[in-house]
Amino acid sequence: MKTFYVTTPIYYANSLPHLGHLYTMIVADTIARSKRQRGIDTLFLTGTDEHGINIERAAQKASRTPKEQADYVVSYYKKMTAEFGLDGEHGGYDIFMRTTEPFHYQGVSEFWRRVAKAKTPKGNTAIYKGHYEGWFCAACAAYKTEDEYHEPKTEGAAPTCLIHDTALDRISEDSYFFRLSDYDQELLSLYENRPDFVRPESRNNEVISFVRGGLQDLSVSRLRTSVSWGVPVPDDPDHTMYVWFDALINYITAIGFGNEERERVFGFEKYWPALHLVGKDILRFHAVYWPAFLLAAGVELPRAIVAHGMWVDPSGRKMSKTIGNIVELDVLSRHFPADAIRYFCLREMVFGQDGRFGYEALIDRANSDLASGLGNLSSRTLTMISRYCEGRIPSGHIPEEKLLLAKRTGVDTDETTIAGFIEHARDQFLQHFESFAFSRALEVAWSVVARVDKMISDAKPWDLAKDENQKQTLNAVLYRAAESLRWLCVLLYPVMPGASSDVSSQLGLSDSSATTDPAQLKWGALVEGQPIGDIKPTFPRIDKAKTMAAINQGTEPSGVHATEADAVAGATTQANTKPAPPMTHATEADVVPCAEGVTSFIEIGDFAKVDLRVGEVLSAERVPKADKLLLLEIDIGEEKPRQVLAGIAQYYEPEKLVGRKVVVVANLKPRKLRGFESQGMVVAASIGEEGRPVIATFTEDVPNGARLK
Ligand code: MSP
Repeated sequence: MKTFYVTTPIYYANSLPHLGHLYTMIVADTIARSKRQRGIDTLFLTGTDEHGINIERAAQKASRTPKEQADYVVSYYKKMTAEFGLDGEHGGYDIFMRTTEPFHYQGVSEFWRRVAKAKTPKGNTAIYKGHYEGWFCAACAAYKTEDEYHEPKTEGAAPTCLIHDTALDRISEDSYFFRLSDYDQELLSLYENRPDFVRPESRNNEVISFVRGGLQDLSVSRLRTSVSWGVPVPDDPDHTMYVWFDALINYITAIGFGNEERERVFGFEKYWPALHLVGKDILRFHAVYWPAFLLAAGVELPRAIVAHGMWVDPSGRKMSKTIGNIVELDVLSRHFPADAIRYFCLREMVFGQDGRFGYEALIDRANSDLASGLGNLSSRTLTMISRYCEGRIPSGHIPEEKLLLAKRTGVDTDETTIAGFIEHARDQFLQHFESFAFSRALEVAWSVVARVDKMISDAKPWDLAKDENQKQTLNAVLYRAAESLRWLCVLLYPVMPGASSDVSSQLGLSDSSATTDPAQLKWGALVEGQPIGDIKPTFPRIDKAKTMAAINQGTEPSGVHATEADAVAGATTQANTKPAPPMTHATEADVVPCAEGVTSFIEIGDFAKVDLRVGEVLSAERVPKADKLLLLEIDIGEEKPRQVLAGIAQYYEPEKLVGRKVVVVANLKPRKLRGFESQGMVVAASIGEEGRPVIATFTEDVPNGARLK
């Protein structure tokens, strides 16, 4: 039997998981499910990386021992993976690896010994003892060269990490080195001979140019007096192994390298080599160091290293604790179904590139693609089968004598047209899936949704149902829709296992999507006469306003809100910046409160001073270097459109504003922001403590320039 082994990185046990960690697990889980569907014996590993100075420090800060710290984080990971359906019980991972397990120590020690005995391709010993002098980032667990840190601002201070912005540790101590510099040619031939070893291609090129730039030997141990939380170097307990050396080896110790019992349970021989799924942030460790270690130890190289991009926030900023824009898993699980999150992550991120994550975008996608798209197709098909076919799958066959009648209604009497379309879509879907182009694969699946939807709308089953002579035509249309749904359930199972099983059982199928190979699907296997199951909405609509208000009230830390004032002050990257009162939208702060919640009264003449006009957004774009500001061109019925700046970039995608009717304060004194003149102000409600802006608009058609009185 064919086997397949997929891994996620093992995550640092110093802090709780967030969307980024979840994402890699979702992708790995999707890949694992698609392999299992095809009958491949698949192993999926995730876990935690529990050693090193960073975990030691986190533990100290929380007054825990390092092991208690790791246990705490692991318990959270386990709870979270269960909630998102990623654990073994829900058909997700097979191994949750922890590097503090004794069998791991055993395997890592065996690996070290092998490397220590090995000769490099240039005939030198692969490991040697020397002295390390340099800078180290605890958060990256990586040594940093000059081009990888910011010089200190004050003399005598430590440089800071380019990624984490935290001070580096100075290291000057005896250390074991791995002679990485001797492996450059071997690695370059590896990349050349196996162009699929590092994927996507852009990442492969990145790795090749890094190696071509020359490799330096790598310090692979720390003195135990500096870092004691780690695996001791065999035969020299004064040294602790470098955490990345120990962590990478987890991929093989987990399945039995260096431990017979583990080998019996899982099987290194059986499953290795693995496909390693990683974020681009740790590509070098996996695509350069890891193969070099394996070459030295004489162990087969991985099947592939596949690197995805990073999730950034809606304005393109890296997610970070300091900014306060991390997407927390508690918030996600509280407000969104797991399948909607899985779908969004795979549909929205072009694999390999960075993707923007915003709750609004997630809600929009879930509502348009899932509730109105697939969900609506499934419920309308099933409801009509229930209503017009006594709740049983109808026959898809139109008899000879009814063909002409069917043709007259515009229904394609040739069933192979739709069957051919869906087969072709299936092939494309699988091709994209195989090359990790999940977003494109899903686009293809949704072309099927659109096609079937159109078939139904064109055929108008509700009219066909009025004519007894058209019974067979009606049946055929509904059969095709139901059969297409069955195919969609199989194709989409790896992406949305829960929803696809739901729709399957509503179709009256025992849930076979998990074990049906999509490549083997045959049109027409849905059995006539089979009763359908209970119909229920698979993807309920998410109330955007309510959900956003709940998210903002419950979880948003200060400092993440779009206000013009913030943007102007350039305070967007400061931690815990208290947002200044929003200036582009009317807020509570703009009215003077008086007794009993009533605001102080103004004369009608005061109100008349404000020239409020209806406008239409003609264009909208982000303002460079001001991640909260949008630059809008608004037609308010004047000769030329107004240019208006609005501090709403974190809440509104610019493209979605174009064409929208808004209310503009037309007689506001123009002012310059970020080098652009703002000739007015867009009126918005201010929601929640942080003043999330919701633009005022009209439900009826109103001409541009109309005055509000
Ligand atoms: N412990 C090491 C990995 C050792 S593997 C032998 C480590 N841990 S980590 O906790 O920092 O996890 C990094 C990984 O988490 C990334 O490579 C990626 O898989 C995932 N992500 C963390 N933040 C992410 C985003 N913002 N976006 C997407 N994935 C991200 O590095």
